[in-house]
Amino acid sequence: MKILVTGGLGFIGSHTVVELQNKGFEVVIIDNLSNSSVSVLKGIVSITGKEPIFEKLDLREKISVQDFFLRHQDISGVIHFAASKAVGESVTNPLLYYENNISSLVYILQELEKKEKAQFIFSSSCTVYGQADVMPIDENAPIKPAMSPYGNTKQIGEEIITDVSKVSNINAILLRYFNPIGSHPSAEIGELPIGVPQNLVPFITQTGVGLRKELMVYGNDYPTVDGTCIRDYIHVVDLAKAHVVALQRLLENKNEEKIEIFNLGTGVGSSVLEVIASFEKVSTKLFPYKIVDRREGDVTMAYASTNKANEVLGWKTESSLDEAMESAWKWEQKVRSK
Ligand code: WQD
Repeated sequence: MKILVTGGLGFIGSHTVVELQNKGFEVVIIDNLSNSSVSVLKGIVSITGKEPIFEKLDLREKISVQDFFLRHQDISGVIHFAASKAVGESVTNPLLYYENNISSLVYILQELEKKEKAQFIFSSSCTVYGQADVMPIDENAPIKPAMSPYGNTKQIGEEIITDVSKVSNINAILLRYFNPIGSHPSAEIGELPIGVPQNLVPFITQTGVGLRKELMVYGNDYPTVDGTCIRDYIHVVDLAKAHVVALQRLLENKNEEKIEIFNLGTGVGSSVLEVIASFEKVSTKLFPYKIVDRREGDVTMAYASTNKANEVLGWKTESSLDEAMESAWKWEQKVRSK
């Protein structure tokens, strides 16, 4: 079975390619290398011993997408990661996000609707819930007005896929990630943020290796256990495995609806200070941080209900926060030792 993974050299994409290959799938990667590097391919091969097909291609070019699908008519399913994903950048450059995240999705769906049958897995985000009213957050939680153009592109993407699946042979699963962190235990692949990391964990590990002076903790006056925001930090390998399970569900026609939604998290909320404590434990290093003002757009708390993913998808996370932090730290040290 040949599976297309768009954004397959990215953080979550590359880990998913590894898990697909581990399950015997043939993988084709499309990536425009705007937020990844072709060296990731070597990392994938060093883990699995199998070389995925890779095509550098910009999904905003409709003709290129059409040509790709003409040349790969035996694709059984698509896992669509390719998208711009920096919340802050989306606020200052919304058109980049609407063009990249929406046009590329439309062009892929236009090719899939031509097929007899098509299985589509969409990389979505818990950001669609905004600040949910009830914790843990389940899939019936209301979608709140997006707090950024990035989050809006995820909401619009879900709506597009829902509308298209109703009138086509496309079966889809929307996977709403909480906070993916960590790296493959081999330290052959991991997160490679470009520039100053926006996300918490890569900033922590870069501070740990001395690349950053200290972490700014964005606020400790939230109504939480220690005043800092709470998130559901899920090991990226656990997340990758969920994609393979979801794809197999569609390929084996086990889906009960044309479109299904799953929240992917650990079900456990961790505060920023708890993540710092986890890092200090796994790195045995004291960690420099400073409490500063809140960051615009941050929600206080978000962690997943895991019931539906456990009971319907038959998947649950296996790694703890400490194990995820340990893998992130191991990766950071390896990247900096090169
Ligand atoms: C986590 C917590 C910050 C950095 C975003 C997107 C989400 C997904 C993951 C793409 C927050 C605090 C962070 C720092 C800090 N993106 N923090 N100092 O904002 O929950 O989610 O990234 O798929 O869609 O919304 O993740 O890692 O940026 O922040 O104190 O230097 O860490 O305030 O409480 P977030 P994050």
